[in-house]
Amino acid sequence: MKDKNTPLRVGILFSKTGVTSGIETSQLHGTLLAIDEINTAGGVDGRELQAVYYDPCSSPNTYKSLAEKLISEDGVRIILGCYMSSERKAVLPIVERANGLLFYPTLYEGFEYSRNVIYTGSAPNQNSVQLAEYMMREFGSRVYMVGSDYIYPYESNRIMSDLLLERGGEKVGERYVKLNAGEDEFGDVLIDIKNKRPDFIFSTVVGQATELFYRAYADAGLDPAKMPIASLTTSETEVKHMSQGIAAGHITAAAYFQSIDSDYNRRCVAKAKRRFGDDTVTNMCWEAAYFQTYLLAGALSEVGSDNVQELVPALLGSEFLAPQGPVKIDAENHHTYLTPRIGRIRADGQFDILQEAKHQVKPDPYLVEHSLNDWSARVTAITT
Ligand code: ACM
Repeated sequence: MKDKNTPLRVGILFSKTGVTSGIETSQLHGTLLAIDEINTAGGVDGRELQAVYYDPCSSPNTYKSLAEKLISEDGVRIILGCYMSSERKAVLPIVERANGLLFYPTLYEGFEYSRNVIYTGSAPNQNSVQLAEYMMREFGSRVYMVGSDYIYPYESNRIMSDLLLERGGEKVGERYVKLNAGEDEFGDVLIDIKNKRPDFIFSTVVGQATELFYRAYADAGLDPAKMPIASLTTSETEVKHMSQGIAAGHITAAAYFQSIDSDYNRRCVAKAKRRFGDDTVTNMCWEAAYFQTYLLAGALSEVGSDNVQELVPALLGSEFLAPQGPVKIDAENHHTYLTPRIGRIRADGQFDILQEAKHQVKPDPYLVEHSLNDWSARVTAITT
């Protein structure tokens, strides 16, 4: 164990610029808030957690070179970072080669395992399955898919297609727009949607284009009560960047919403606002970034160093009481037990929570087992 004056350095890669800077800045803030709190409470057994931060500009190539720099020049072994799956895929080989450890706080398409990654966002059995079940039950089974043009939307649409087809549903359209899509691209998509008349739209549009898509929907005069946009990526933060009320009535599945009605969550939201300003909103990716930093600090304290070989066994099976409720890292697949929820956007940009799993759902990133009817599949008790 090094002496108490030596800080524990962790790399942080979330973008303050580029197409996904809004949501990534919220992940940066969730991470920095947790680090501040941990240091204020005495650090990790007296050692300060020190952030080494760079802005990867929402670019997978920049992510890759900054991960290399963190590891080879800054001597960092642990990286908290990445939003888009293309960013994670760029960082993954760097972290694996150096036997480092990436904490990834973003919902993603699943079908991945690395012993050098801890995944704290939702796997498809913790958001896609619940969203498919809810939307088919409430609206019908004809779906039109709209996504940004990169790996996560392709794979998430494939999974959603399988879930729908299993139940006799139908995909009536599938379109991809550029990550930096302009308004006119969505105009075309909306014309096609109006012609095809789906029961709902499944959106995997991410980042700045999200606002344009919801605005194009509103401009097309469609009614969310009849044909809503259902999403896994439209959070409080994307909604905040839209004009007031534009997204009201649309649906998102997530393990966390800012509106979760618990004293603990309210205290966390208040701390985020105090630290980053009154207009700060929290969201599912903010929350995963926040709680994963605490899980890391717990393991660092248990092991007494940032040696990844020792750290990973300490992390596996570890638990934390997060703003969403108790979470736990699965000892086999490195993903996290989470509580799936369905929310409907209100005019004020917050979510009404329409449905919530009774228990934490075990992560099943390869969708080995899933049932659209069971919202608490494969439960094990979390004791935190
Ligand atoms: C994502 O790209 N995993 C949202």
